[in-house]
Amino acid sequence: MELRIGVIGIGAMGRDHVDRINNRVNGASVTAISDINREEGLKYGAEIGAEFISNAEDLIASDEIDGVVITSWDPTHEEYVLEAIKNNKYVFCEKPLSVDSAGCMNIVNAEVEKGERLVQVGFMRRFDRGYEDIKKELDKGQLGEPLLLHCTHRNAEVDSKYDTPMAVENTAVHEVDALRWLLQEDFVQAEVILPKKQTTNTHANLHDPQFMLLQTESGVCIDLEVFVNCKFGYDINCKVVCENGEIGLTNPTYYSIKTENKDYKRVPSDWKERFIEAYDKEFQLWVDGIKQESITGPSAWDGYMASVTTTALSLARDTGEKTTINFEEMPSLYKQEQFV
Ligand code: NAI
Repeated sequence: MELRIGVIGIGAMGRDHVDRINNRVNGASVTAISDINREEGLKYGAEIGAEFISNAEDLIASDEIDGVVITSWDPTHEEYVLEAIKNNKYVFCEKPLSVDSAGCMNIVNAEVEKGERLVQVGFMRRFDRGYEDIKKELDKGQLGEPLLLHCTHRNAEVDSKYDTPMAVENTAVHEVDALRWLLQEDFVQAEVILPKKQTTNTHANLHDPQFMLLQTESGVCIDLEVFVNCKFGYDINCKVVCENGEIGLTNPTYYSIKTENKDYKRVPSDWKERFIEAYDKEFQLWVDGIKQESITGPSAWDGYMASVTTTALSLARDTGEKTTINFEEMPSLYKQEQFV
């Protein structure tokens, strides 16, 4: 059976997901869309052969929709996810699950009350071949215990709407989830250093680069450079230093070019290019999960844990102090799939 998917928010990410659901994921297609921009919605709906439903709540409640994808602006996520849970609908929500931890907890509570998982959060890095391979090696244990992680998250450039808090909330949030999953433990302490020396390529509202430090429950220390005007491309690195060795991501371009006395690999231009296979895999898992009535991808609890961690990082940045990360006890609904 082909699942009927409704997408709320047809901006850059929404359209990217529509394309993958319709063209690269098996077993589903987008049959309805919604957006506050009616004109764009009608035009795009006609283009892809999907019904435009102006009210997102009507799309969620429709009997002709099996799963809902939320790719609208961050502050709208919580309301739509809660609506989907109320209507017993499977829902894929782009990160962040909500703009704050209390909002994420509302979703966790609603799901726990239903007694089943309906929510998958868009933390696609867990589906990246490089991260998956690192996790497999760490799980084998031959490298010994992880001790330190050195990570970078670099974008070529950002526009003037991107400000200092977004380096945590929109950028570092991906490492926050991926590294917690990789190490299979929660973070307990956060710190952010805003280097005095900044790039001249930044603007008044953005401190760039930023240096973030996290510590896990067992004491693994992580440093993360977030540098969003690095100029040369989208560059994601993660190196795990263990007792008996080191393991890290390589640039996942699958070819190199030799020309004019140079031998080089391409650096991806953005996240859509770098993580294209991971996005496809996360959606295939979601679609397969709906069919089997068992969702196993990143959960509402993972969304909550990412939120408490980014909140602590933001506080650490604003106060200039190390901040303790506090969180609620995990409900049993999520225990089985923890860190799968
Ligand atoms: P965008 O601004 O290009 O698109 C958002 C769309 O949502 C717009 O068409 C807007 O009209 C619509 N919208 C806003 N409020 C709405 C509402 N109340 N109801 C219905 N539609 C509404 O933004 P973009 O870049 O597509 O981001 C969308 C989401 O995806 C964001 O939450 C963002 O954090 C997330 N994202 C995730 C990434 C990832 O790597 N997982 C990468 C980029 C974005």
